[in-house]
Amino acid sequence: MVSDAVGAGEGAALRARAVGKTFAATEGARVVALDRVALDVGAGELVSLVGPSGCGKSTLLRLVAGLDLPTEGELWVGSELITGPSAERGVVFQDPSLFPWLTIRRNIESGLVARGVLRSQRHEVDEYLRLVGLEGFANSYPHQLSGGMAQRAALARALINHPRVLLLDEPLGALDQFTRMRMQDEILRMWQARGTTMLLVTHDIDEALYLSDRIAVMTPRPGRIDRILDVDLPRPRQRNDRRFLEHRARLLELLHLTGGIEEPLAPGV
Ligand SMILES: Nc1ncnc2c1ncn2[C@@H]1O[C@H](COP(=O)(O)OP(=O)(O)OP(=O)(O)O)[C@@H](O)[C@H]1O
Ligand SMILES: [Mg+2]
Repeated sequence: MVSDAVGAGEGAALRARAVGKTFAATEGARVVALDRVALDVGAGELVSLVGPSGCGKSTLLRLVAGLDLPTEGELWVGSELITGPSAERGVVFQDPSLFPWLTIRRNIESGLVARGVLRSQRHEVDEYLRLVGLEGFANSYPHQLSGGMAQRAALARALINHPRVLLLDEPLGALDQFTRMRMQDEILRMWQARGTTMLLVTHDIDEALYLSDRIAVMTPRPGRIDRILDVDLPRPRQRNDRRFLEHRARLLELLHLTGGIEEPLAPGV
């Protein structure tokens, strides 16, 4: 489904240095969401962020996206300091957030419109419709698509900008297990064909193990990167393979060491 013609090796390295983020909460209280976060993601690497609910995963992703600014520290893409959003950093959230009044073709084109390159690159839209297997749905509206199809359209809308970094915040969280596993293979195929650097937030440890080169485990709030698990397993990975299960046990152990994903929520989360 993925064409190899879209070019490989587009990814850029990501760097977070001593990143802190404090939010103003109610009645003058402050919430320290992130504390001295350090993270390096190599060009073309696929890294997952896992950790307890409220530990700052989405906050970190939004800082990398440039949708918000850190209170302390710096974030870099390649040699560029992140100071705001850029088409070079695509984001896909759990909710595909397509424009309901636009067809799937127009939704995917909207990435090009935002960059002012629609006229010169409109011909690429068909390529991206094929890339995500939606060529038969170009003229459909989002409400006519299943959740998995809508999420693929959202991926195409992000990918058409040739982002050097793709930020995924639980992009498959709303999907049933069957669709989710197929979409994981789609994401892997796109990643392998494009060489895009990917940072994925997920609650699903099997998803993290199936997809990632490395998994960054965060502490409960205030979030820090506590441990990094290297997933040195060849692809395609077998979810019930002995070494996969060994990595799974190790990841569970790391999560429990840092407070665990099943911990009760801290007040204010
Ligand atoms: N805009 C905001 N204003 C105030 N507090 C915020 C804001 N965004 C996030 N927070 C707080 O920062 C902390 C981290 O939130 P964040 O959404 O990053 O967590 P998360 O790890 O993505 O959680 P989940 O796994 O539930 O999605 C939480 O305590 C949250 O209440
Ligand atoms: Mg989140």
